[in-house]
Amino acid sequence: MATFTLPKNSKINGKGKVHKADGAANVKAFKVYRYDPDSGENPRYDTFEVDLDTCGPMVLDALIKMKNEQDPSLTFRRSCREGICGSCSMNINGKNGLACTTAIEDCKGEVRITPLPHMDVIKDLVPDFTHFYAQYASIQPWLKTVSTTPSGKERLQSPEDREKLDGLYECILCACCSTSCPSYWWNSDKFLGPAILLQAYRWLADSRDEFTGERLDELEDPFRLYRCHTIMNCANVCPKGLSPAKAIAETKKMLVERAI
Ligand code: SF4
Ligand code: SF4
Ligand code: FES
Repeated sequence: MATFTLPKNSKINGKGKVHKADGAANVKAFKVYRYDPDSGENPRYDTFEVDLDTCGPMVLDALIKMKNEQDPSLTFRRSCREGICGSCSMNINGKNGLACTTAIEDCKGEVRITPLPHMDVIKDLVPDFTHFYAQYASIQPWLKTVSTTPSGKERLQSPEDREKLDGLYECILCACCSTSCPSYWWNSDKFLGPAILLQAYRWLADSRDEFTGERLDELEDPFRLYRCHTIMNCANVCPKGLSPAKAIAETKKMLVERAI
């Protein structure tokens, strides 16, 4: 279970604003992390009272309502609103998840919403993914081959080999797992973290890729891979039901097997 941890640049000063839902009968309160680096002020929590009778069912619906009706400066990422793009990842009541697939009725009491833990914050609920994406680029997430492509044809894969990618290709790079991993909190400068390691294994497991040895060489490092201590937060929070911990274990197994 991921516990609540403040973003990196946080000193909450407690002087938040309260946005009321006057006259509404069915009200739910949301405490939302606010931070605007241009203001020179510390982060704070603002309280938004939301009329649930005129709001959609998901936390993202509530955020959009707050922005449309109460404070247009509230800043967050979203796109698909159906758990596909990975943009709306944030921390909701102490657990990382997607705002668009988290039902308000499943959130107990006042709902506290903060950015993904241990990331630098650009504004409000928008974390800085620059380092995360650089780590993703470092594993060269594309099919690498030396053999010539069969002329005019795709590279074929048997149904059995294709099945080996199930549980891997579905990753939407939301970073819910990496930002709930204590090892990643403290060593994200060197440890690749569960999301990127799952992506790395996705290419190790692909029967068409011809750079397995080189990929394993890159990962065989006390920090990049071996900072995973199997704490399992990653598997507990993944909104797509994936297990980065399992992918990491499979990668370690491949390294052991090639050393024998
Ligand atoms: S299993 Fe490994 S990667 Fe996943 S949360 Fe634990 S330490 Fe992090
Ligand atoms: S493994 Fe799951 S939690 Fe991690 S980035 Fe991919 S979809 Fe998000
Ligand atoms: S808006 Fe795309 S995953 Fe939530």
